[in-house]
Amino acid sequence: ETKHFVVDRNSPDRAQLSEAAVYIKAGALVAFPTETVYGLGADGLNAAAVERIYAAKGRPSDNPLILHIADRQEVARLAVSIPANAEVLMKTFWPGPLTVILERAAIVPDRTTGGLDTVAIRLPDSSVARELIRLAGTPLAAPSANISGRPSPTNAADVLADLAGKIAAVVDAGDCAIGVESTIVDCTTPVPTLLRPGGITLEQLLATLGEVEVDAALAAADAAPRAPGMKYTHYAPKVPMTLLEVAPAEAVPVLLRELAGAEKQGLRAGVVAFDETLALLPDKPVKASLGCKRDAGEAAARLYTVLRYFDDKPVDVIYAEGVSEQGLGLAVMNRLRKASGYRIIKK
Ligand code: TXA
Ligand code: MG
Repeated sequence: ETKHFVVDRNSPDRAQLSEAAVYIKAGALVAFPTETVYGLGADGLNAAAVERIYAAKGRPSDNPLILHIADRQEVARLAVSIPANAEVLMKTFWPGPLTVILERAAIVPDRTTGGLDTVAIRLPDSSVARELIRLAGTPLAAPSANISGRPSPTNAADVLADLAGKIAAVVDAGDCAIGVESTIVDCTTPVPTLLRPGGITLEQLLATLGEVEVDAALAAADAAPRAPGMKYTHYAPKVPMTLLEVAPAEAVPVLLRELAGAEKQGLRAGVVAFDETLALLPDKPVKASLGCKRDAGEAAARLYTVLRYFDDKPVDVIYAEGVSEQGLGLAVMNRLRKASGYRIIKK
């Protein structure tokens, strides 16, 4: 039986969070909200507790976890050196949706870093998350609180859909504001390297650092990514999804063509698209909206709910409209490509 703590996102009840923190201290798993997605938390310095995260999620054991901290000074305990670029990033974007990769200190267990000599660290903006970390008195190792491969959860119901009965508790503070995971930047390279696009945009990183490398794997589906978790098919709905990467004016004609093709094969279709596109489609397909085309932030906030929407709908195939890669759109497209298993229509 998974305990359900409901708290206010701005002034969370301390007694409830203290109770949740007791589970963490005992080595158990507690899902909690952050501004990006819900995390599945455990004491990140306790290898046995961290092991339970892998078991609950069915996560490949070579995929390291992010340590979540509540105070910036904690970094000095978890990493052996803090390059100047990392200082600038932490000062500019913490608390917030940015994860930095640093050389790890010996107190971080192999189980947390997947045996790597680096460690991923993030200071979330969510006050619920920070208060829970403080009360637990330890950095929380926390991947997204989904079964491995499924869309990340952005509300407590989605956490429970995947993990009810497998975890001690969930702290429920409603919907996550950002909706896609943190941006991961490797600060151990001479020029910092973007490993995963997320809530802090590439434009923001460039404005702050002047220069940023982009991991080659983000551009090519076949290159080996340096964030181990980026190599797995991920975020996927339960039925096959095809992503359209066509000129904006082509989206409707290509969708109409694909929908007709699916119908001919007797396949029931679902469509993920912007309102402007959905308005031009026939009634029949099951539709889920990414919001208004101009608003990449809304698309990010809705993305994982939309990908889970089809779980209990009568569809055999899904078609998704691509988004512009500016701002948060870069992270949205990265997730859509993975969710499609790189089943992409370019023309
Ligand atoms: O927004 C987020 O980052 C959320 C919330 C809960 O904070 N967490 C999250 O964790 O997305 P997860 O485990 O789903 O994704 C962590 C990613 C994985 O791709 C993993 O491979 C990468 O971070 N990672 C962790 N440690 C790393 C390291 N030392 N070097 C390179 N990549 C690392
Ligand atoms: Mg994840």
